Amino acid sequence: MRILSETSRTFGEYLLLPNLTDEDCTPDRVDLSAPLVRHRVGQQSPIRIATPMVSAIMGAVSSPQLAIALAQVGGLSFLHQNQPIGEQAEMVATVKRHKAGFRHNDVNIKPSATLHEADLLMRQTRLDVVVVTDDGTPSGRFLGLIGTRDYNFHRHQPGDSVESRMLPVADLVTAPHGTTLERANSLLWDSRQDVLPIVEATGHLTALVQRRDYELHEQFRTETVDGDKRFRVGAGVNTRDFKDRIPALVESGADVLCLDSSDGYSVWQHRVIEFVRERYGDTVHIGAGNVVDARGFRYLADAGADFVKVGIGGGSICITRDQKGIGRGQATALAEIVPARDALAEKTGMYVPVCSDGGVIHDSHMAIAYAFGADFLMLGRYFARFDESPAPKVRGAGGQVLKEYWGEGSARARNAARYGQGGDMVFEEGVDGYVNYVGSLADNVKVTLAKIRSTMISCGSTSLRRFHETAVLEPISQQTFVQNSEEVDRNERPTVV
Ligand code: IMP
Repeated sequence: MRILSETSRTFGEYLLLPNLTDEDCTPDRVDLSAPLVRHRVGQQSPIRIATPMVSAIMGAVSSPQLAIALAQVGGLSFLHQNQPIGEQAEMVATVKRHKAGFRHNDVNIKPSATLHEADLLMRQTRLDVVVVTDDGTPSGRFLGLIGTRDYNFHRHQPGDSVESRMLPVADLVTAPHGTTLERANSLLWDSRQDVLPIVEATGHLTALVQRRDYELHEQFRTETVDGDKRFRVGAGVNTRDFKDRIPALVESGADVLCLDSSDGYSVWQHRVIEFVRERYGDTVHIGAGNVVDARGFRYLADAGADFVKVGIGGGSICITRDQKGIGRGQATALAEIVPARDALAEKTGMYVPVCSDGGVIHDSHMAIAYAFGADFLMLGRYFARFDESPAPKVRGAGGQVLKEYWGEGSARARNAARYGQGGDMVFEEGVDGYVNYVGSLADNVKVTLAKIRSTMISCGSTSLRRFHETAVLEPISQQTFVQNSEEVDRNERPTVV
């Protein structure tokens, strides 16, 4: 038995001290881009992300819809592996069908359907516009568009047909298949439409170009796309059915894989990485984890992992530490692993990125994680709160709007492949709960990134590497922690006295 002398600490136990801010330190100059997978020192990583955030490999978090929204703002999602191989591969394929700027037409309705049915469909799929085809399938003939602005149940009957209120193809400006995105955007603006349908000579729709996507692109200009401008997407894999799952995911177009386990310091992960290298060489990227110390990092990096994921027990839905007594404060884990990453790069010339997974409660914790040297962050609770996460919205007892969020080790998910308790789940390692609903991913990520940029400016840095190298962090006392928050009662609607 060995007892380490340092106390295990997490992000909320530190504050950053400002460094000199000079005239070059402006928010528009801050570059948050990060390598996602291993690369030779001095060379570019084969996959870089402009927004160093990835979504957790969880059923309550990463769906194709969230993956598209996150890739649009420069991050990347990992679709979960706690589902049949075919279903996960289909989720990957759904994301890969989308080219940046061109939305694939997945949701359709027949002209004879009722406005009530159209309304329900739009609510379920959280779309503003649905494509009307003659037979209601994606391969049917394009007849028009119906959107939430085309009807109002105070004026129109729920039983009225979609055909009676849709914008018919004859009244719409459309563009032929093969139109460039630049041309499509011009047509969109010239026609004053919110949506431009791209139609084949046969009359079938191939894609939609949306004004909202154009505006997002203008805001972020940093989509995570592959060489064909298709959105990039990741997928979780496990140490059990990997010989079948990995080929299916590669076939469906997954850009990067990640082993999904609460404890990644195992020969099983080594074997999966070996399998990938033997079968695909370096053409398939695979991250591994989770680990919390330098031994675990080196083991997985030496095995050939493309990135290593750090964190045990810090997740917002996690009860692993209570149940098993295993884990480590996230800040302490990074403080040990980041120097091991840099030493490996120095010794071998190979840089293996570190992903900090879980335990981010406030946006400020993200800045602190980057200051500790994390290359990118994996987030569950953060993304679970957004429109695009797959979990249902519900109303709390106090009337507040919530979204469901459950752990992969909860009785609800029973992700046995992640927890390896000998076959099935014998006890829970996660809980099933709620988070506050806060709106769209793009709106929230924009605010979070503004905060991180602002922190970096105060610390005199315009790149994550420099931020990490020059950051000065100080542990704080309990009294200082208390003073992190306001000391007055918040009054949303003050009245004059
Ligand atoms: P969060 O961002 O703090 O919500 O943490 C998300 C992370 O928690 C995930 O990426 C997983 O690593 C981890 N996780 C997911 N489900 C569970 C669980 O049921 N128990 C423990 N950890 C979990």
